[in-house]
Amino acid sequence: MELFTLPRQQALGKVWLVGAGPGDVELLTLKAYRILKKADVVLYDALVSDEIMALVPADAEKIAVGKRAGKHSAAQDEINQLLVTKAYTRQNVVRLKGGDPFIFGRGGEELETLVEAGVAFEVVPGITAASGTSAYAGIPLTHREHAQGVTFITGHCKLESRPTDWSSYANSQNTLVIYMGILNAGTIQQGLINAGRAASTPVAIVSKATTANQRSVIGTLGELEQLAASPELKMPALMIIGEVVGLATSLNWFNPDEANLSVEETLAVTNQV
Ligand SMILES: C[S@@+](CC[C@H](N)C(=O)[O-])C[C@H]1O[C@@H](n2cnc3c(N)ncnc32)[C@H](O)[C@@H]1O
Repeated sequence: MELFTLPRQQALGKVWLVGAGPGDVELLTLKAYRILKKADVVLYDALVSDEIMALVPADAEKIAVGKRAGKHSAAQDEINQLLVTKAYTRQNVVRLKGGDPFIFGRGGEELETLVEAGVAFEVVPGITAASGTSAYAGIPLTHREHAQGVTFITGHCKLESRPTDWSSYANSQNTLVIYMGILNAGTIQQGLINAGRAASTPVAIVSKATTANQRSVIGTLGELEQLAASPELKMPALMIIGEVVGLATSLNWFNPDEANLSVEETLAVTNQV
């Protein structure tokens, strides 16, 4: 399928596919910070925080391509085409995504378009939501006594029409991290219990992790749907399912009330780097 109709000429610039991390501006990598500072144009997703966008040079073009404030997100094909178009006219094009661009971020699809268009690119990984959330919620994803492995899955697929093979995720010695699962909590709960995962398995749902607005609810798999409806949870939110969640009470260290860095404070901190 032909996605764009630009003439085959040498692209002027390069696209940097950059992971912005889960929220806390200080979880941005030094490389991501350096590249943002020299950006000519930034195409960013809704999950990228205002504090991180404040690091982008004032004269850089900033294009929001994700859902924000009730607006519809740009279609993936439009984003792909925009990236190519910008690379033909600007030097440093940054595609900035929440978390890591290769984890439920469609980074691969965007790079395939760039390859087809002959546009140079580099990828800067970011801290994915699973890592940020588990760290800030005091839930180690693996632990020699409780979990020998961890699996990241999306809960966002059309679960009814394309059933998930829940038996792959029912192992009690494995931690399951579910991105985008809140709206399907009931299906996830039933699927895992029917596949043999104990209803008493500890679960945590953490929203706006690593930020001053982080909130967590903890319970059991048998209560997952009820927990997902908790009013204190906002989007984005992540589910962690497994025995390791039992460690959250003793390993909890993060106090969101003390994490409220203003943009000015954040800039002062990052300028010292
Ligand atoms: C489209 S996926 C993008 C994931 C991203 N590429 C990453 O590596 O984290 C969006 C989902 O990530 C999870 N997520 C991202 N940031 C989060 C945060 N700060 N707190 C909790 N969940 C988060 C949520 O499940 C959200 O629905």
